[in-house]
Amino acid sequence: MKNGSSVIVRPARNVRGSVRLPGDKSISHRYAMLAGIAEGPSRLENYSTGADCASTLACMRSLGVSWECTCDGFIEVQGRGSSLAAPAHALDCGNSGSTMRMLSGIVAGQEFTSDMIGDESLSRRPMARVITPLTAMGAQIASQQGKPPLRITGAPLKAIDYAMPVASAQVKSCLLFAGLFADGETRIEEPLRTRDHGEVALQAFGAKLDRKSIGQGNEVRIRGGQRLRGIEARIPGDLSSAAFFLCAAALFPGSQLVVPNLLMNPTRARLLDILMQIGLCISVTQLDEIHGELVGSLQVEGAHLTQATIAGADSAALIDEIPVLAAIAPFTEKGIEVKDAKELRVKESDRIAAVAMNLRRMGARVEEREDGLKIPGGQTLHGAELDSFGDHRIAMAFAIAALRADGETLIRGAESAAISYPAFFQTLEEVVER
Ligand code: S3P
Repeated sequence: MKNGSSVIVRPARNVRGSVRLPGDKSISHRYAMLAGIAEGPSRLENYSTGADCASTLACMRSLGVSWECTCDGFIEVQGRGSSLAAPAHALDCGNSGSTMRMLSGIVAGQEFTSDMIGDESLSRRPMARVITPLTAMGAQIASQQGKPPLRITGAPLKAIDYAMPVASAQVKSCLLFAGLFADGETRIEEPLRTRDHGEVALQAFGAKLDRKSIGQGNEVRIRGGQRLRGIEARIPGDLSSAAFFLCAAALFPGSQLVVPNLLMNPTRARLLDILMQIGLCISVTQLDEIHGELVGSLQVEGAHLTQATIAGADSAALIDEIPVLAAIAPFTEKGIEVKDAKELRVKESDRIAAVAMNLRRMGARVEEREDGLKIPGGQTLHGAELDSFGDHRIAMAFAIAALRADGETLIRGAESAAISYPAFFQTLEEVVER
């Protein structure tokens, strides 16, 4: 799809079929980065097809890592070990906050200067959350008042003991990656439990970590100077992309959906609990573990949807799925309330404002709050002209709401879905019945 593309979504009668998802975006980024600084080759199957993960691979190539996409769909990475090559031009992170934040932890430990740039949306996003601790470790970082572009001059890093003020898995991974290059033991504490793919991936590549829970969060310790070795891995299907299909199934009481090879990591799977609590019937038919990540197959059946409140630790755990949960909220019996989610305002778009605006355009009543939304249930929505606000998750969330609206919905900027899931609209058409 070209920039500025619109997609028309027609109402549906039901959802039925099987959805195979591309590899999880969070894991794909981390594997690509760690494979680059590991010793020996890595072979990654089902790597995310999204543009964000392509940005990470392109940055790794600019840092001297060679990789290729084989004809059978694997990414083969030749690890360089811990010393990367000085990039000849700026590292273009595109739309990807994950790339900029996590890779900054790796380039901070190199003996050269890296410029990191991003698109218009990424250039508005806060980077002080990585600049402050990486500077404390000894890197020199110039920014535009805490926003990109970043100029990172690497240095021999010192370990830190750092309590993160914001619950962010990207920041946690950034600091663990930097900790690999630091002298001594780095200790990181997060205020709320966030996804642990950084920890799990480091262990898969052979690093040793100490992890324990403290209050509602975690403490992780990593020793510097550890060498990583390449792995062969199949990346589980992306749970945040599956969320759109699970929510589509939730909209139709007679729906039936099968989702094989899905990531079931407990720090991500809160979505499944919430959907079951609202009324979706979910059974897990197979469960495996690959390199420390749980993978399962789901069977899903729609039923009557009740209500939910998402707050506190749940808001951090569901941060990427809140837009689609909010988009289906009007079709629940008593609505959905989201609290403690002000991080949504600094994602690829201001997701609280974007959800409220699109729902209102569809005729819904919505209460927008600084840190969340209250969306009453039992509402009828009409098709409308909506905007993705250049945000992949907003484009996809409203394609789902549109399935239950009266009349057609036009989504402008629908091409942004390709940031995480290029085949989304095609796959949706395959499981929708009209
Ligand atoms: C991610 C963490 C979350 C999430 C993002 C991916 C990750 O961001 O929203 O899509 O892979 O660690 P924050 O760390 O900013 O919460």
